[in-house]
Amino acid sequence: AAEDLIAPSILSANFAKLGEEVDNVLAAGADIVHFDVMDNHYVPNLTIGPLICEALRKHGVTAPIDVHLMVKPVDRIVPDFAQAGASYITFHPEASEHVDRTLQLIHNEGCKAGLVFNPATPLSYLEYVMDKVDMVLLMSVNPGFGGQSFIPSALDKLREVRQMIDASGREIRLEIDGGVKVDNIAEIKAAGADTFVSGSGIFGKGQDNDPNRYDTIIGKM
Ligand code: DX5
Ligand code: ZN
Repeated sequence: AAEDLIAPSILSANFAKLGEEVDNVLAAGADIVHFDVMDNHYVPNLTIGPLICEALRKHGVTAPIDVHLMVKPVDRIVPDFAQAGASYITFHPEASEHVDRTLQLIHNEGCKAGLVFNPATPLSYLEYVMDKVDMVLLMSVNPGFGGQSFIPSALDKLREVRQMIDASGREIRLEIDGGVKVDNIAEIKAAGADTFVSGSGIFGKGQDNDPNRYDTIIGKM
């Protein structure tokens, strides 16, 4: 099995000190940076784009950056994120006109590609593209906001995807996003996840910016 990765979602970080926040969670043991892109169209919120991704790279962040696109349309922003230093680019199949083409586009741009499934989105989108995904991201909240509660049905869905991945024999990351905290991460791991996004669970209100706090929380994950 793949090694477990902790992916703090910077959505809950203090954006006035973003570089420092990212340095601190990585120093505290986080493995990859989860980067939530919202467009006020596919989801009812507006966040950050390629400019900020590039700024983190220029700041010196070398860890993988896991770009979670909650945008529609998807394709035209993909090359910009690849240029800006994205490592993974994941998107919601409902937001792409041509899912297979978007996966190919992400690969052609030199990034790893993944599909994201909302709580009610069927896994059938995966059926014919299992050979083209490097990551499956299951949402355990409805996308758009940090700080929501974990939707329990995501556990069964995780078990289902874990079986599909194992049956494929490919190296595919199984990431979970939404309401992941110190107190439920063990159960989520047992259901098959190997990559754990946590926003409010790590940054809290995002304003105290305390490196010791990040050590403690990430140490327990
Ligand atoms: C929600 C985002 C998540 C969000 C998770 O649409 O995709 O990555 O930051 O935040 P928490 O961990 O607070 O649920
Ligand atoms: Zn996310």
